[in-house]
This record gives sequence, C-alpha cells and structure tokens, in this order.
Amino acid sequence: MNKKLGIILIIISFLAWAIIAAIPFMGFKAEIKALIIGALAVAGEIFFWSGSVLVGKEIVKKYKHEIKNFCIGIFRNRKGKGEGNMLINNTDFIKQPLFVKGKVRNVYDLGDKLLIVVTDRISAFDVVFSDLIPNKGKVLNSISEFWFNYTSDIIGNHMVTTNVSQYPEGLSGFKEELQGRSMLVRKIEMVNAECIVRGYLEGSGLKEYNATGSICGIKLPAGMKQCQKLPEPIFTPSTKESEGHDISVSFETLAEKIGLELASKLKEKTLALYNKAANYAESKGIILADTKFEFGILDGELIVGDEMFTPDSSRFWDMKDYQPGRPQKSFDKQFLREYLESIAWDKTPPPPKLPESVIKSTEAKYIEAYERLTGRKLA
Ligand SMILES: Nc1ncnc2c1ncn2[C@@H]1O[C@H](COP(=O)(O)OP(=O)(O)OP(=O)(O)O)[C@@H](O)[C@H]1O
Ligand SMILES: [Mg+2]
Repeated sequence: MNKKLGIILIIISFLAWAIIAAIPFMGFKAEIKALIIGALAVAGEIFFWSGSVLVGKEIVKKYKHEIKNFCIGIFRNRKGKGEGNMLINNTDFIKQPLFVKGKVRNVYDLGDKLLIVVTDRISAFDVVFSDLIPNKGKVLNSISEFWFNYTSDIIGNHMVTTNVSQYPEGLSGFKEELQGRSMLVRKIEMVNAECIVRGYLEGSGLKEYNATGSICGIKLPAGMKQCQKLPEPIFTPSTKESEGHDISVSFETLAEKIGLELASKLKEKTLALYNKAANYAESKGIILADTKFEFGILDGELIVGDEMFTPDSSRFWDMKDYQPGRPQKSFDKQFLREYLESIAWDKTPPPPKLPESVIKSTEAKYIEAYERLTGRKLA
C-alpha cells in the first residue's frame, strides 16, 4: 500500500516537472510564469521525496536523473525551435533595391533575379499587425519550396535556391537572418492574371454564386451550401486593374485580354497543379479549398512564380473539423480571427496588440501545417 502511494506521489512529481517544461510556451505573463514554475518546482520536490521514502530511496534515485533529463529535454527541443529564432520584420540590412514590399514579403531586385524574403509579419482583413509570429516566414517559404519541388513535373518554376551560401555576393553573408525564410528566384515577366482555382465554395466565389448561380461564368448546381465541395475544381481567374483591384473574369474575357492559347495553358496548368497538390494534402488530413498562382514568361517559356500553396495564398482547412453549410476554421489564422472577434475589432487600422497566447498558438498552427504537409520537422 505504501509503495503504491509512493509511486503515485512520484508520478505527480514528474507531471509537475513536465508542466514546468511546457510553461514557457503558455500565454501567461512572465511574472505569473515564474510564480507557477516556482510553486511547481517546490511541489515536485516534496512529492518526489515523500514518494521515494515510501518506495525505497535507492531505485528512485536511479530513475530521477533520467526523468528530469527527459523533462528538461522536452524544454530544450522546444526552445531550439521557438525561442532561439530571430524574428524578422525589417530587412534594411539588404542594400539591393527594393522590388516590392508586400504585406508579408520584402522582395529585392537583383537584375535578372529577385530575392524574396518572407518576414514574420501577419495580416488579417488586409491589415498588417505590429506583432510578429515566430517562424512564420520560415514556414511560408519552406512550404512554397516544398510545393515547387513537388509540382516541377507539371510546370517549371522560378526557384533557383534557398541556400543562402549560394546567394550572390553581398547577400550570402546573411545566413542567420535569411536562411530558411528566403528564396532566390528568376525574374520573369508576369502574366496579368491571378490564376485562382476553387475546389470548394467559399469567399468571393460563394458571394458570386449566391448572387448569380455561377462563378466567372461557370454555372454551378443549384442549392449548394457554403464550403461545399464543387463537382470538380474550377478555374476562376481575375485580372489586376489599374487601381489595383482584382476583377474576377470569365475564361472568355481572359482569352480576349491575353490570347486564347496562353489563357488555355494557364487554365490547364492551374487545374493540374491544384489536383495534384489537393490530393496530396488530403492524404495528410488537410483540405486545400482554393488557391492562387501567378505565372510568368521567361525566354518564351511559361513558368510559375510568386508563392505556391502557402496558407497566405490558399485556404487550408483541417479535415477533422470540416463541415459544409458553415464557415470553416482557417487552419492557420483561427486563433487570430477568434481573438479579433472576441474584442470586436472593426477591421480598420490601427491593428490591436496581440496577446502572447494568440502569437504562440498561431505559431504552432503554422508549424503544424508545415510538418503535416511535408512530414519534416521545421529546420
Ligand atoms: N519570379 C518573379 N518575377 C517577377 N515578379 C515576381 C516573381 N514572383 C513574384 N513576383 C511578383 O512579386 C510581387 C510579390 O509581392 P507580394 O505578393 O509580396 O506583395 P503584393 O502582391 O504587392 O501585396 P500583398 O502582400 O497584398 O500580396 C508580386 O507583384 C508578384 O507578381
Ligand atoms: Mg501578392
């Protein structure tokens, strides 16, 4: 009886140490964290020593060391992934001319190439937040890299390398800042078309369907629900207009603007890319509801540029939670959106400051998306 009680007390002490290892990743204030860690450390020791007296000190002493190391190990591994990493927003250390600064990416002009740096910025409802999400830039860049490789049998892409040591002089020295979050690409002449493909009914596609029964001139069955899977994926392009607004257009209108041959090729490649990637993602329990590609021409050849199947250019849903007839949780931005709803933010700048818990849980979702899709650990 005494031995049993001793074992229970020892297990409780191990639980206390495991919680201590996890506390740095929870969304409490630093002072609260210190308090909880202190209390748990004292409780853990008391439980451990009373347990070991009841069980027999010698055996317990032997295992204490292993278990403590295990608990500390969990903490170290997580620390290496999350906290040792630099957060990147400003990339002014790069002296090359800026090609474009987007909401998330800073792109530099290197003549016939571009350097795309994916920062840790996050946006929602077109507003960029002042808080950064650790590892987000690395996740987005690595997801694009994964898909460019995975789809290179369908179409060539703009990627040259993501290895900073192979970057041109003046850039290859910024290994700590740029490795993992940047890509050297071939500069291409972009085709003025956002090549959108939809496998599910949501967003502007749903709005258009509710108003007209079609999307981009493609008639759909009556009575479809929000987020329902379409009978087959559809190509719903849009073009950039001078004011910067994207206008969704029918295939015929696109063909008039850029020529039938090019429009047909864009449609064919867009659908092929989506089909291959969506099937793959489904096997990993992730629905790729829709996405957008940007293509361009280099030496007369059509290639795909920009980013590919990232959570920023696509709707990712977790298959576990999927249910048509209602909005789905965004895979990556669910905690951010829930928080913004809870404070009833009016979606206009300035953006609110994000609590640590929202930042941490959002980071975890990005890492989960990367690891589930690629089956690799984020480097
Ligand atoms: N290989 C390439 N060659 C030339 N231009 C490219 C290439 N790849 C991407 N681009 C262009 O680079 C730009 C990347 O900009 P980015 O998407 O970061 O910001 P944005 O489109 O201005 O704003 P947002 O953050 O709202 O998307 C796009 O205009 C895209 O068309
Ligand atoms: Mg863009």
